[in-house]
Amino acid sequence: MNDLDQLVQAAQADFALAEAPADLENAKARYLGKAGRLTELLKGLATLTPEEKKTRGADINGAKQRVEAALNTRRQALADAELASQLKAESLDVTLPGRKRGVGSMHPITRTMERIEAIFGSMGFDVADGPEIETDWYSFTALNNPENHPARSMQDTFYVDMKDAEGRWLNLRPHTSPMQVRYARAHAQKYAGQAHMPDIRVIVPGRTYRVDSDATHSPMFHQVEGLWVGENVSFKDLKSMYLDFIQAFFETTDLKLRFRPSYFPFTEPSAEIDIMFERGPLTGRWLEVSGSGQVHPQVIRNMGLDPERYIGFAFGSGIDRLAMLRYGVNDLRLYFEGDLRFLSQFK
Ligand code: DAH
Repeated sequence: MNDLDQLVQAAQADFALAEAPADLENAKARYLGKAGRLTELLKGLATLTPEEKKTRGADINGAKQRVEAALNTRRQALADAELASQLKAESLDVTLPGRKRGVGSMHPITRTMERIEAIFGSMGFDVADGPEIETDWYSFTALNNPENHPARSMQDTFYVDMKDAEGRWLNLRPHTSPMQVRYARAHAQKYAGQAHMPDIRVIVPGRTYRVDSDATHSPMFHQVEGLWVGENVSFKDLKSMYLDFIQAFFETTDLKLRFRPSYFPFTEPSAEIDIMFERGPLTGRWLEVSGSGQVHPQVIRNMGLDPERYIGFAFGSGIDRLAMLRYGVNDLRLYFEGDLRFLSQFK
């Protein structure tokens, strides 16, 4: 084996040892760089005769080509290995179960509200939305519940340490009843001066707030207010309408309704509405679902209407209560804790 064969072999061995592209470039420099072994050999040609130059030059060039070929082969091998390891690192195990994207669903209380809206909608009621931060005047005074009246304490309220532009104290509304007066006033204004005013028929579902917290009370809860005011409305309309509603809501006619005398400042007479199922797990117990009554003449006046001409009834039902009965839930707080194990059952 001549010196050139040995040099080519040494280069091949060097290249084989290179594990990374940078190592390989260093090895290349030792043979083909400015001071590399092949470069030195080519420089040495200068001292030879023209004849010797020809043969020796051709031999050295042959060796140089073999070194370059070895270099390229190794370069390719390193690149292949790099690609292979990258592919391996990024490989997908297509047999693994996929990552599921959770399917959202409506909250049971929202569903219940939509259900109530649909039923009353079918009975010709409008649906209105009122402010949750309400003035003391709409929450109480306009509803015939004057300042310092003991009936206010029935609805222990969250007060906001702030007044509105007209200097009226603000609170988180303890019931949806303030919307009775807001809605009726807008309605009365719209038809002011006209010979005939269509009946006011509206429900107001929404959030309400009271200082109260146990299995059946939450500081934030939901009510639906109902109001029907016209020239010829009576308590019997309230009874038949509420029965229709509650039967549609629970999808059963095996259900009794009872009006129990009660007191609210904004109605006269006033009644609690109780229901009793005649079938199913809740049979045999009267369950309170709503307050109600004939709208007090003073409230009719505060609506901007003449109590000699207009009469009406109103009710306020607990939505969470209705949802608890419908779904058989016995702790109200479950609805508001955000536990997906509970909520996903309503999908
Ligand atoms: N606002 C009452 C409450 O939260 C419920 C109520 C009673 C509403 C009688 C009414 C009504 O509209 O007529 O306790």
